Order: sequence, then C-alpha cells, then structure tokens
Amino acid sequence: TSVLVLAGGLSHEREVSVRSGRRLAEALRSKGFQVKIADLDRHLLGTVDALQPDLVWPTLHGSPGENGSLRDVLQHLGLAFVGPRGPSSRMAWDKPVAKALVARAGVATPAHVAVAHSTFRQIGAGAVLERLARDLGLPLAVKPARGGSALGFHVARTATELGAALVDAYAYDDLALVEHVVEGTEVSVTVIEQADGELRALPPVEICPVDGVFDYDHMYNAGETEYFTPARLSPEATEASLQAALTAHRVLDHRHLSRTDLIVDADGTPWFLECSVSPGLTETSQVPLAIAGAGLQAADVYADLVERVIAEHRT
Ligand code: DAL
Repeated sequence: TSVLVLAGGLSHEREVSVRSGRRLAEALRSKGFQVKIADLDRHLLGTVDALQPDLVWPTLHGSPGENGSLRDVLQHLGLAFVGPRGPSSRMAWDKPVAKALVARAGVATPAHVAVAHSTFRQIGAGAVLERLARDLGLPLAVKPARGGSALGFHVARTATELGAALVDAYAYDDLALVEHVVEGTEVSVTVIEQADGELRALPPVEICPVDGVFDYDHMYNAGETEYFTPARLSPEATEASLQAALTAHRVLDHRHLSRTDLIVDADGTPWFLECSVSPGLTETSQVPLAIAGAGLQAADVYADLVERVIAEHRT
C-alpha cells in the first residue's frame, strides 16, 4: 500500500506541517507502508501521476491545505484522502462559520464579533474597543478568523493592546475574530473514526502553558507547555467535552480524524473554540498525546485509518 503524505506548502504553518508530515511518515513506514512525502508545489500533479498512490494524507496546516481548495483538487482527481472534503474544510477553517454551526447544534461558544480590516482602518482601535468592550467585555481574545497554530493570537485589555493585536491578526487574514474570554481549563479532544465507522472521542488533553498563553512557541517547543491526559476534569465535564467534540465533528461534516479545542468553565461547561481541519501530528501536538492517553499506539491508529479510508474509497 502506498501513501503520499503532503507536507509543507506556502503557508505560515509550513514548518509545523513538515514536522507533522515527517512524524506521520515514520509511523506509517514502521507499519510497512510505502510512504513518500511531497511538498505542495507545481510538481504535485506530476508526482501524483507518477506515484499513483493508494491514499493521500495531507498534513498541510494553514491555507490552502485547510481552506478546502487542495481537498477539492484531490476529490476531483478521484483520490482517496484523509480528512474532510473541500466544502466541509471550508466550514471548519472559517472560525466564525464553524462557531455558528456548532452553536446551533447546542454547544456553547464564546460570544464574538468578526472585525474586517477595512472597518478597523475606517474607525480605529479606540472605537472598535469601545464597541467590543460593551458587547463582549474585557479582556478580549483576538485571532485571525482563518488561521492556525495561534499565529496572530493575542489577549487584549486596552485600546492600545487591541490595536496591536488586530494589526497582528490582519497580517494573517483580512478578517479578525474577537472573542469574549471564557476562563477555565483549556482542553482538546481528538475524534477518530473506527473500523466499524463509529466515532470515538479520545480522552481530553489538558493544556497548561508554563507561563500563561498557549501561543506558537508554547505549542512547538518541548517543555513550554505541560499536558495532562486525561484532563483534570470531573467525570461530568469530561463526558460533556467528549460530546461537544463529537457534535463538532458531525456538524462540520469532518471525516476520519479531528481535534476540537475547548475551554471548560468552572461549571464544567465546554465552550467550543475551533475544530482543526488538519490537526498537528508533531511530537508536541495533542493528537498523538490523546492517542497515547487512550492506551493506543499512534502508528496503529494511523495504519488502521489508512486501510479504512482506502476501503471506504473503493466502495
Ligand atoms: N494548526 C495546527 C497545526 C493544529 O491545529 O494542530
């Protein structure tokens, strides 16, 4: 069985993607698969044509790997691939859209306002802060509406901080998502499709950045964040988190493997933040931690998934 792992690409998360791709390739090779890693570049179609892989596994983070465009191409080429199809990717990738859909399914999500770059330029940070502080309270979480790995993410308390946070978010996207900050325990829940097609939510992974905010450096430098698997939640809050992640996976029409990020408040209510189209598989990512926390081997889980997706594609 041959697998083409797509990693890299022109994205702000290129380096992370390369790390995810290498890790995945090692795991699959250890299970006897023939694996080739390719970049997302102008040679892609030629590479696919030459290799005729049984399956493509995009570990591309950021656009275009997660915004649906690449996945539309894979779909049109008739290839078996891991993860959601183009239209579903678009929904999950766009945080305001994903939040609205998941909220309609009954999962709480922090109140938010999406602020376009043009609006910010017209009215300025002071006026934006006045409106947002009134509607959402302070502090405010600011992030690109479409983006990953916490790039462009900041917490703002003043007009000056908000202005700087928005400017940074606009470096990644023309639309910024400004959210009410829910205090609580940050967890992520991995959902995998099992051989029988049933979804299985793995134990929540609790994220504790050693000095506060879970930003890019805390994500990808070993030792900068402490993880607890399972998360230190009550049984009720754990169950609610698993259900929230399963709902997000279903509502967003995700496929095969997803990771949903949540804040669990003091009452045990999980608040939906996002559901990653292509969750990180690096050595410091939460998916491998969740798999280990469930008593499973990442290589076994990935190998099962490959077999399953190929079989699903053939039927
Ligand atoms: N965007 C990063 C890779 C993640 O969701 O894990």
